[in-house]
Amino acid sequence: MTSPVQNPVRTERHGDVLVIISDSPPVNALGAAVRGGLEAGVKEGVADASITAMVLRCDGRTFFAGADITEFGKPMQGIGLHEVIDMIDASSKPIVAAIHGTALGGGCEVALACQYRVAVPSAKVGLPEVKLGLLPGAGGTQRLPRVVGVKAALEMIALGDPVSAKKAAEIGLVDKVVGEDSLEADAIAFAREIADKRPIPRVRDREVAPDPEAVEAFRQANGRKMRGFDAPAACVACVVAATEKPFDEGLQFEREQFMKLMTGTQSAAQRHIFFAERQAAKIDGIASDITLRPINRVGVIGAGTMGGGISMNFLSAGIAVTIVEMQKEALDRGTGVMRKNYEASAAKGRIKPDAPEQAMGLLKPTLNLEDLADCDLIIEAVYENMEVKKEIFGKLDKIAKPGAILASNTSYLDIDEIAASTSRPEDVLGMHFFSPANVMKLLEIVRGAKTADDVLATAMALAKKIRKVAVVAGVTHGFIGNRMLMPRQVEANKLLMEGATPEQIDRVHTEFGMPMGPFQMSDLAGVDIGWHRDPNRIESIRDALAAEGRWGQKKQAGYYDYDEKRNPTPSPRVAEIIEDFRSRSNMPKREITDQEIVERTLYPMVNEGALILEEGKAQRGSDVDVVWIYGYGWPVYRGGPMFWAQSEGYDKVVAGLEKHGFKVADTLKAGTIK
Ligand code: 3HC
Repeated sequence: MTSPVQNPVRTERHGDVLVIISDSPPVNALGAAVRGGLEAGVKEGVADASITAMVLRCDGRTFFAGADITEFGKPMQGIGLHEVIDMIDASSKPIVAAIHGTALGGGCEVALACQYRVAVPSAKVGLPEVKLGLLPGAGGTQRLPRVVGVKAALEMIALGDPVSAKKAAEIGLVDKVVGEDSLEADAIAFAREIADKRPIPRVRDREVAPDPEAVEAFRQANGRKMRGFDAPAACVACVVAATEKPFDEGLQFEREQFMKLMTGTQSAAQRHIFFAERQAAKIDGIASDITLRPINRVGVIGAGTMGGGISMNFLSAGIAVTIVEMQKEALDRGTGVMRKNYEASAAKGRIKPDAPEQAMGLLKPTLNLEDLADCDLIIEAVYENMEVKKEIFGKLDKIAKPGAILASNTSYLDIDEIAASTSRPEDVLGMHFFSPANVMKLLEIVRGAKTADDVLATAMALAKKIRKVAVVAGVTHGFIGNRMLMPRQVEANKLLMEGATPEQIDRVHTEFGMPMGPFQMSDLAGVDIGWHRDPNRIESIRDALAAEGRWGQKKQAGYYDYDEKRNPTPSPRVAEIIEDFRSRSNMPKREITDQEIVERTLYPMVNEGALILEEGKAQRGSDVDVVWIYGYGWPVYRGGPMFWAQSEGYDKVVAGLEKHGFKVADTLKAGTIK
């Protein structure tokens, strides 16, 4: 027998105002128990003749953050959200939503069904369902346009970004911004002011005029961002429906569209990633309340593109940074680039006008490694050379204070070997940032054989502070992401020899939803990266390109030809080089299908992911997915490589791999990937 769920909603009387309070940590999601509690609370207020108005608020850190996503796809328990919302909407006494924290999704929809809304200045209000591959399915697409108009509604619904309380008040979504620390009292006072106003305003009674220009402008401005996703177009269609259909018909349309998305693969993938991202923060075998090491100053060695970008993450989060270079010129150049980046962001309005000064004020540039002595974390970001890194760590061992965390930003090298060059391997780990390091969300945190638990936990917590999504990786060549890139590149090169073109292979990848294909990526990163630099030693197509100075975008020539604006066109010279290699190796040219490219470049990545998991180099399959979504732009609507393999069907992936002669990972074969 299951024990009855305690009602998380209580009511308190304040004279003639009934305050309905939800207390359902952590985020007051609108699960069955909360919905039931709300129903009872509203019924109580309506039935009690001494009550003239109600206030609806939440305890804890936030107003309702949405429907309970964990309930999706399961049979509905108790009263549905639509019914609760209908009850609130139809209430014979006005209800004031009193918002703090984040009123999101179903939470925003509950607020929209209330007759009035007040919010504290720090509150945020939004409909982020589109980010879960959904649309607001409890009336949001029909009510919001009626309140804020088509343009603002499209932005909030089809892009999913929340607005501040101030902005919400400006666009009419919130009736009043109240005191930060006096939400309840101010909401009760507001409720008394409006209690007798008749008619009671209901959003459903309003109308919103069609605005085809705003719709077209929105599509034009955001077409690229929405490419490949099903949900944004459905959001737009619902907003348009709000302008064309009576309220109840619009609701019906919204419901149909919602159900279509909810049962589709894209939303399943996007919901998977929502939870995967949160799961990634949890470290197997380490208690979540472990004492962390304080990090007040970070040292960064290297002021190149990587070191500068890494430093910016900390400066932007208000953490002081000491940055070290060997030559004054390089130091000045590096800090100059950082300043320019900040100023460009400020000019675009992305950060406050005084933010560049504030951030740069926290930076201490130096030519002296000894200046790192007061740092709590030191990140080495010099070029990829084991000997150089070992030498630096040897020096750091003597300079760094006891307990300081020593990290390497290496993308491939063995952290254990680096750690062994110090007398304190327990303080050493990898922090692999992705370029551009101040933009890319992913951070692979590499746990060495001797890395102490509190060192790992501190780095993971710090990642959250600098707004990265961190994933724990084990020591293996290329860690999770770059290791999976390797089989893809090997196969892509073989496919060129067999008859595919760089354009075809890249197109298959971009049509799949990747931001670029393997050869576009090589051209962007630099064809010369890792090249042996001997122009006479030509053993691969890549060697031939590098020897001719076709180093990629920076030289306007790589696997593609580029114009001054870096627009690519297929290169006749590259076709010649490929042809030449093919004829010399007596390889017959044949037609390669797009499906074969998928099977030989994407399936091997899945296989490699499975091997990484078998070897314990990643904690869980969803971590591998997070790496690919946030580090390499794998399309979020496909949920990452491991989720995608599962939705394709493991059998199909295994058959595809076997057809091309790959040795398939045991867990993939058995369908037991964790
Ligand atoms: N349902 C179920 N669980 C949720 C949830 C939700 N809507 N929102 C958050 N959680 C869980 C998280 O999974 C996490 O669980 P964990 O501790 O076990 O990992 C916990 O609550 C705390 O969440 P965060 O770690 O994300 O906490 P933050 O303070 O960083 O962020 C937040 C809080 C901004 C509210 C963020 O959690 C968030 O964006 N939540 C999702 C909001 C959302 O998408 N709402 C729409 C839902 S769909 C919907 O409403 C459909 C409707 O239109 C019908």
